Amino acid sequence: LRPGVAVDLDRVVARLRAAGCVRAEDEAAALLGAARTPGELESLVARRIVGEPLEHVVGWADFAGIPVHVAAGVFVPRHRSEHLVDVAASLLHERTAAARPPPRSGTIVLDLCAGTGALGLALHRVAGPFDLYAADLDPLAVACAADNVAPVGGVALLGDLFDPVPAQLRGRIDLIVANAPYVPTSVLDLLPHEAREHESPLALDGGPDGLAVHARLLAEAPDWLAARGVVLVEVAEDQVPAALSLVTAAGMTGQAVPAPDDPDTVAIIGRHPNHSASETRPAAEATSTAERTPTGVCTRE
Ligand SMILES: C[S@@+](CC[C@H](N)C(=O)[O-])C[C@H]1O[C@@H](n2cnc3c(N)ncnc32)[C@H](O)[C@@H]1O
Repeated sequence: LRPGVAVDLDRVVARLRAAGCVRAEDEAAALLGAARTPGELESLVARRIVGEPLEHVVGWADFAGIPVHVAAGVFVPRHRSEHLVDVAASLLHERTAAARPPPRSGTIVLDLCAGTGALGLALHRVAGPFDLYAADLDPLAVACAADNVAPVGGVALLGDLFDPVPAQLRGRIDLIVANAPYVPTSVLDLLPHEAREHESPLALDGGPDGLAVHARLLAEAPDWLAARGVVLVEVAEDQVPAALSLVTAAGMTGQAVPAPDDPDTVAIIGRHPNHSASETRPAAEATSTAERTPTGVCTRE
């Protein structure tokens, strides 16, 4: 609110709490921060009370400590996907350390099914600089991604999977990170109201087994990856065997890395066929074939 404008914060908190908002104080503070006038605050509170996600109401989400612009209707980045960023960052760091001689041209990262572009942006923060491309099929999402990645020189692209990616990047991308939709169609109805009512089905519906978009994405990925490049996708624990099969069917080496604090969030790594395993795979994580190690890493070659 503008300086000098008074509001009854306790009343806002009470209304939010009565509407079922668990973190009513925090939400009230966020709504207060987003409104310029008492009238605007009233309309933001009203939207929140009828169940619109807080992030859509205030226009931004926190992802990995970064405020990310998110418009109404666009997928709100989930904290669980910060695991994908952590794994991607360690892969980029390993790659840089292993490169002998150091690469002459810059690193290229593609955030596919990018939504707001939160993953690519957060990765740039911890493992940049690199050339960042963020692509999505939803024009609303691409508009958000364009806003979010522009400050780090990123480019947002609109289209189906790799269709909008510039042809000159074929065979040159070092890392593809993709949090594609992976909810099986049959369980979409079980999602929380906020997701069902306020996020695009395109962002959630992964087809019969939840991996329909992953299947196309992983099949095409090797054509776009540089030698020693990697593709990284997020799946649920029960999708790991099927996801690893898609990776191997595409001729890549697969590895599954569950999130340390949430075993149901798993990063699937696909390494380019020309990738030398000994170059970059952490020794503690290297296993032969489709076996689960004490560290919870599952690989299939
Ligand atoms: C689960 S959301 C994830 C968004 C973002 N990566 C994140 O984690 O916040 C999936 C995204 O994939 C996009 N998407 C779905 N099918 C796609 C396709 N065939 N090509 C490109 N993007 C697609 C949706 O529009 C949505 O933004």
